[in-house]
Amino acid sequence: MRYSRRMERVKPSAIRSVQKKIVQKQGVISFAAGLPDPDYFPLADLKTATMEMMEESGRSALQYGMTKGYAPLLDLLVERMRAKEGIDAKPENILMTTGSQQGLSMCAMLFLDEGDVVVAENPSYLGGINACRPYGCGFIGVDTDEEGMVIADLDNVLSENPKVKLLYVIPNFQNPTGKAWSLERRKQFMEVINQYDVVVIEDNPYGEIRFRGEAVPSLKSMDTQGKVVYLGSCSKILCPGLRVAWICADESVTTQFEQIKEGLDLQCNQFAQMQVASYIQKFDLDAHVETIKAAYKKRCDLMLSLMQEHFPSSVTYTKPEGGMFIWVELPTSLSADEILDDAIESGVAYVPGEYFYANEGAKNTIRLNFTTVSEEQIQKGVLLLANVLKKYI
Ligand SMILES: Cc1ncc(COP(=O)(O)O)c(C=O)c1O
Repeated sequence: MRYSRRMERVKPSAIRSVQKKIVQKQGVISFAAGLPDPDYFPLADLKTATMEMMEESGRSALQYGMTKGYAPLLDLLVERMRAKEGIDAKPENILMTTGSQQGLSMCAMLFLDEGDVVVAENPSYLGGINACRPYGCGFIGVDTDEEGMVIADLDNVLSENPKVKLLYVIPNFQNPTGKAWSLERRKQFMEVINQYDVVVIEDNPYGEIRFRGEAVPSLKSMDTQGKVVYLGSCSKILCPGLRVAWICADESVTTQFEQIKEGLDLQCNQFAQMQVASYIQKFDLDAHVETIKAAYKKRCDLMLSLMQEHFPSSVTYTKPEGGMFIWVELPTSLSADEILDDAIESGVAYVPGEYFYANEGAKNTIRLNFTTVSEEQIQKGVLLLANVLKKYI
């Protein structure tokens, strides 16, 4: 086949190949997943919302709809973004996407030319990086500390690299580190980027899953120059299978996205959008999110306390205030990838952190997920992992 040259830049996900390896070994306790807990999908309420929606307006649910999205859902999302993120948007600013993953792909398509440079947190979400790769861009990673992206480093990168066009950031409970940016750091970030001709993608699928500390306003809410493209998603607060997500941007930018969307798939799944709208109208999404948060907090706290008790003291890790992940740093001489087979053999699995970097990754890092494992599995799995680490440290 005469594939496009673009395809030479598309690589299979290393994370998926690790996950395949784990699935093949039965009985392994896996901290390698990146999924919400299906036990917390509101099955009965979604079923009721769906049945009622079908009875009330089944024919329009099965018909084509607007490219921008289902109007009542756009209104509900405007309201939700104002309440949760302090974003002052109108339906004109929003376009529904098939998961935020499609939003990421569309951003890459809209903004990137060959030779452009994308700046991302170091490490970052591989799906975001991979969405950009086909367009032949370069990547620069900027490190983060406990407060967020290191501003002096960001300023240096932007002043030294005029080809930077796009910044891709996840300021809330980042995948893979679980870190959240402080308010002060968000303000500093906006001050710096406002001096450059760049676009910021603020990817926020985990923002509402804050189970500790105070909510911090989004970058989009501080955006006075229309430079931030905000990506929201129902995947972590409701369920990912419906693929209901959205872009919020300056109206002129949203119009461009609309043209791309027409060419991609005309519109998002009308049925799924109407299911979500019906669920939000008839049930209490906030109460549902509180339930998820309580469950995830319990698991995260348990995992952290067991790690504190059993991990060698030279191993450090983040203490997330929300989201789904803990990021572990081993002594620099160790490779998490080389230890993985031993860990799987012992009955526990994780994703080596080196796969989450756009360029060369830190080999001594690990991503641990705490949302798809029971408390009992956490008890056993952390002990198994601690024993494996002790063999090497
Ligand atoms: C940071 C980040 N962005 C985007 C996505 C994709 O989410 P969606 O299900 O909305 O496509 C994920 C999925 O895990 C993610 O972690």
